[in-house]
This record gives sequence, structure tokens and C-alpha cells, in this order.
Amino acid sequence: MSKQIQPVRGMNDVLPAEIGAWQHLERVARAVFDAYGYDELRVPVIEHTELFQRSIGEYTDIVEKEMYSFQDSGGTGLTLRPEATAGIVRAAISNGMLRGARHKLWCLGPMFRHERPQKGRYRQFYQFDLEAIGFPGPDVDIELIALSARLWRALKLTRVRLTINSLGSMESRASYRERLQHYLRSHDSELDEDSRRRLGGNPLRILDSKQPAMRALIEGAPLLTEYLDPESQAHFAALRSGLDALGVAYEVNPRLVRGLDYYSRTVFEWVTDALGAQDAVCSGGRYDGLIAQLGGEPTPAIGFAIGVERVVELLTLAGGVPPAAAPEVYIVVNGERAEREALRLAEQLRDALPGRGVLLNLGGGNFKTQFRRADRSGARLALILGDAELDRGVAGVKPLRREDGQIDCPLDELPARIASFL
Ligand code: HAM
Repeated sequence: MSKQIQPVRGMNDVLPAEIGAWQHLERVARAVFDAYGYDELRVPVIEHTELFQRSIGEYTDIVEKEMYSFQDSGGTGLTLRPEATAGIVRAAISNGMLRGARHKLWCLGPMFRHERPQKGRYRQFYQFDLEAIGFPGPDVDIELIALSARLWRALKLTRVRLTINSLGSMESRASYRERLQHYLRSHDSELDEDSRRRLGGNPLRILDSKQPAMRALIEGAPLLTEYLDPESQAHFAALRSGLDALGVAYEVNPRLVRGLDYYSRTVFEWVTDALGAQDAVCSGGRYDGLIAQLGGEPTPAIGFAIGVERVVELLTLAGGVPPAAAPEVYIVVNGERAEREALRLAEQLRDALPGRGVLLNLGGGNFKTQFRRADRSGARLALILGDAELDRGVAGVKPLRREDGQIDCPLDELPARIASFL
């Protein structure tokens, strides 16, 4: 036997036994997105590398070390998208969707980051991504967060809590950055290698460091909230009172800075205590400068992304996945003529029972084997079609989940009567 090909590290197969939770999440999420007027769009998985460098930021983990970048055979520098926001903004610009218009958009798809895989952290993972483009907020900030809270309620997930912060305007962030650089430079000897490298380009990311040795230094750092410009302060106050008014509980976390550079003002994250280290299930924020930075007309925007694998795991842990629908009918066949007839009968029954499962025994097998398959399929009814039944123009009808015995039903009446047997 030749050597088996292994899956790529950090990339998962989602098998039929697990797909129920994914489909449940997708159904519930679509309904919630519809309720707030978000429209689905689909954007490519591959974009020009420069798009991510210019949006996510050169000094971020993602751009520095996690992107799947390559040159295609024409020499073009391309990257498998590590997130969806940049691609959606690119799509809005390149399709002429801005021009003062407003859009509420969502998409679902795989993202790729060359991270160190562990539970809840994968190299290919799925995100639901929502973006509200053209809205300055804070009303939309409040509504978007309320949408996410509604999604958790609809999914019956309770072990999630919301943290929020404001990063201020680009200008107030710049003055905070200087202040922070000054503080960190004065503690140069305590900085680790990563932080030293980031000090010039992106000192805010140092606040996000998970290194225990950096904790004391980070705790002593000046707080961004103390440097907010008056407009951002008002924006943040309105966000908080809007959430209060809607009864959405939150915690202000002044150290929440997010791992991508494009944010300004509102940032937020939903975290859980149920999944271990990878605790963020939904994160996002406002990115008022990004669209102009990518060559579009200046347009405010806000969005978030949900980590699908993590929410699926939460759903599974909470036992909140409805059972998969079993087929209604399993057709047991015996004899060559009956096999041909059964194919036709199954099609007629699928017409008569739209959206419900009609399984035909394929690949032969004696009655015992076929009834075992019928039982395992979860079907409520077995239809028995042998050459003997065919000669009499009937099929045997046998309930599988009740004690009732088998009866005969004329074949030409079956499609009309099948529902009454279930
Ligand atoms: P992000 O925080 O990088 O933000 O990712 C959003 C969510 O994706 C995380 O909260 C987490 O649930 C999930 N996630 C991230 N990395 C992984 C991974 N390696 N494995 C499994 N799940 C993961 C963004 O991507 C922004 N684009 C969000 C956004 C949209 N901001 C504005 N609009």
C-alpha cells in the first residue's frame, strides 16, 4: 500500500457527525443577520498581499509571521486571507459601492493564519464577518453589539461576556503612542525581544503581550482611556449608555487594544471561560480610517468577526445542538424487477414528501441486513418491495418505531397515502 497523505497541520475536516452544530449556527446566525438588515456577500479567499500589509498593519503578528503568502506563476504576490474585513473593504471600493452609500454586509468563509495550532486555534478557521459601512455611530456600534448579544441568546449560549474599550481617534492614539513609547523606553531592560522590535512601529501591541514577564510592566503603563479626544470620549459614553439602556452587560477593559492596526474608537470582544486559553469568540471594532487608507473615499465603518469553530465548540459543550432530522422512509427491496421499480417509487415519494428523507436500500443485502440498515437510519417507516409484492401491485408498509404490524398498500396509492402512515 502506498503511504497515506496526512492532512495539513492546523486544518480540520468537518465530518458529518459534527456538521449539525455548524448548520444550526449558520441557520440561527442568518436569521439574526436578516433581522438587522445585513446582506450576504462573498469575496475571494485570495487577495494581493499588499491589501493585508496596508490594512492589518506591518507590525502585527498576522502580517509579520502568520500569512500564507506566495507568488503565483505570473509573479504576483498573493495571500490567503487571514481575515475578511480588508477584502470586504476592497470589494466595496473596487465595485464603486461607497459614494456616500451605506451598507450592512456579512460573509462566512475560511480564513488562514500560520499560527501555532492548539485547541481552538487553527491555521484554517471559519469566521462569520459583519461590517456596517458608512455609519459614523455610536448608534450602529450599539446595534451591532446588541445583534451579537441576540445571537448568543438565540443559540442559548450563556458562558460569554462582553468587554469593550475605546482606542480614540487616530490623533489621540498618536499622542498616546508617544506617551507609551516614552514609558516603555524608560523600562527598556524589561522589554522582551518581540516588544523591543515593536516599540518603534506599533507600541500598542506590546500591551497585548501574553508574556508573564511583561505583566507588571504593562500594568504600570499609562492608560489609553486617559488620552481620548473629547469626541471619542462622547462616542464611548454614548456607547456605554446605549448598551445600558438595552440591558447588554459589559465590562470596560482599558487594556483591550486588538491585534489589528485599523481600529479607532470602539473595540470589543466577547470572551468565554469555557474554552481554555483561546477565549475570544467574537471580536471587532470601528475602523473609520481604513477605507481612505485603502484608497476609497473617507467612510466610517465598524464590524466584527465570530470564530465559528469556537462557537461550535461552545454549542456542543452546552448541548444546544438540535438532533439531525432522521429520514422518514426506508425502502427495503428484494428481486431484480423490484430494484428497478423501487428507484421509480423512491422518486415519486420524494415528490410527495418534499424536504423529508426517503432512503432506498442500495447495493442489495438480505432482508435482515436491510432492516438493520433501516433501523440505524432512524427512519420511521419501512416500505417492503419484493417481486412478490410487485406481482400483487402493492408494497408492504411497516412502522419501525411503533409496534403496529405490516400492512399492504397499493403502489399507485402510496404517494398520496404515505404521509398518513408516518
Ligand atoms: P480577530 O480578532 O483577528 O478579528 O478574529 C476574530 C475572531 O476569529 C476571534 O475572536 C476568534 O474567535 C476567531 N479566530 C481568530 N484566529 C483564529 C484561529 N487561528 N483559530 C480559530 N479561530 C480564530 C478579525 O479577524 C477582524 N477582521 C474582525 C473585524 C471585523 N473587525 C472589524 N470587522
